[in-house]
Amino acid sequence: MYETWISARNAFFHFSYTKLLKPAYFLMDPEFVHDRMLGVGKFLGRFRLTRWKIRLCFNYRNPKLEQTVLGIKFSNPIGLAAGFDKNAEILDILPDVGFGFAEVGSITGEPCPGNPKKRLWRLPKSKSLIVYYGLKNDGCEAIAKRLTGKHFRIPVGISVAKTNNQACADVDAGIADYAKAFETMEGIGSYITVNISCPNAFGGEPFTDPVKLEKLLARLDQITTDKPVFLKLAADLDHAQIDAILEVAKRHRVHGFVCTNLTKKRDNPKILDKMVTDKGGMSGKVVDASSDEVIRYVYSKVKGTHIVIGCGGVFTAADAYRKIRLGSSLIQLITGMIFEGPQAIGAINQGLVKLLEKDGFRNISEAVGIDN
Ligand SMILES: Cc1cc2nc3c(=O)[nH]c(=O)nc-3n(C[C@H](O)[C@H](O)[C@H](O)COP(=O)(O)O)c2cc1C
Repeated sequence: MYETWISARNAFFHFSYTKLLKPAYFLMDPEFVHDRMLGVGKFLGRFRLTRWKIRLCFNYRNPKLEQTVLGIKFSNPIGLAAGFDKNAEILDILPDVGFGFAEVGSITGEPCPGNPKKRLWRLPKSKSLIVYYGLKNDGCEAIAKRLTGKHFRIPVGISVAKTNNQACADVDAGIADYAKAFETMEGIGSYITVNISCPNAFGGEPFTDPVKLEKLLARLDQITTDKPVFLKLAADLDHAQIDAILEVAKRHRVHGFVCTNLTKKRDNPKILDKMVTDKGGMSGKVVDASSDEVIRYVYSKVKGTHIVIGCGGVFTAADAYRKIRLGSSLIQLITGMIFEGPQAIGAINQGLVKLLEKDGFRNISEAVGIDN
C-alpha cells in the first residue's frame, strides 16, 4: 500500500514538474532560478508545518537503504552534491525532500564572489549544465558562524576549496587557504571533502599534481579532526593521474574519494546542444560515463581501504544502481534533480529498493562494487 502510494505520488509530481514548472523555469536565467530555489528552500525549512508537507510530498524510507559508512549512519544513499547549497542555507529542508545526506560548499578560506556573470548555462538536449560559478560562497568564517551549534537531521559533508583569486593561485597561499577553511569548518558536520577538482578557479587545478597534493595533504594532516576526509576528483583524469593521486592519498588522512566533479572535455559525443561558451565544466549526462569510469577504476584500486562516493549524471534509480554496483557506497547528484524535479530523490530511492530486491540483496551495502 505504502509503495503504491509513493509511486502514484512521484508520478504526479514528475508530471507536474516536467510538463508545467520546468518549461517555465527553463525560460529564465539559470542562476536566477537557482537563487530563487534556494530562497524557497530556506522558507520551507523554517516552519514545522511546511517541513511536514514537503515530507509528505517527497520523502521515502526503507530499511534496505540504511547503512553505516565510516561510522556515519545514512538513512538512504542519495545525497545532494556540493555546489547547489554553496552557503549551507537549506539544510533544514533537505531531509524532508528525501536526501540521505548533503554536501555544502565548496567553502573557501575567504569570501568569494565567483567568476563574472554569466556563469551557468543549460544544455537541454544533452541533459547537462555548463557551470562556471568559480566557487562563489560567503567564506568559511561566515558559514561556520551560521552553522555552529546547529542540529542536522542528516549527515552533512563540508566541501572545502581554495579561494578563487590570483593570490591563492600560488601553491603555498592556496594551501594556507584550504587549511583555513578546513580548520574553521572542522567541528561542523559529519565529514569533510577536499575539492581539488574545481575546473573554474584561477590557476586551474594545481593539486591534481602529486607533488603539490602531497604538500597540501601533509598540511591538512596537521589539523586535528575526528571526521572522515574525502578527496573530490576530476572527471577527466587518466589512469596514470589517478594512480599518482591514490599513491599520495594513501600516505595521508584520506578515507575516500568523491568521483567526480564536472568534465571540461568539449569533444564528448554526449553533447547534443550547440556550445554557447568555451568556459566552465559540464555536469549531468555529459559527465555520466567519465564518472562511471573513474568510480570503476578508483574502486578497483582501493576496495576495502577507502570509500567511493559516486557523482555525475544520476537521473534515475538505474543510474544510481550502476554506480553502486561499480563501487560507490553513496551517491550524490544535482543535475538530475534540476531536470527531473525534487521527487526524483524519493523515486530513485524507491527504484533502488526494487532493483535490490530483484537481485536478491537484503541491503544496499551488499550491492556495492558487485560488478567490479
Ligand atoms: C551549479 C553547480 C555548481 C557546482 N559547484 C560545485 C562546487 O562548488 N564544488 C564542487 O565540489 N562541485 C561543484 N559542482 C559539481 C557537482 O558537485 C557534481 O560533481 C557535478 O555536477 C556532477 O553531478 P551531477 O551530474 O549530478 O550534477 C557543481 C555543479 C553544479 C551543477
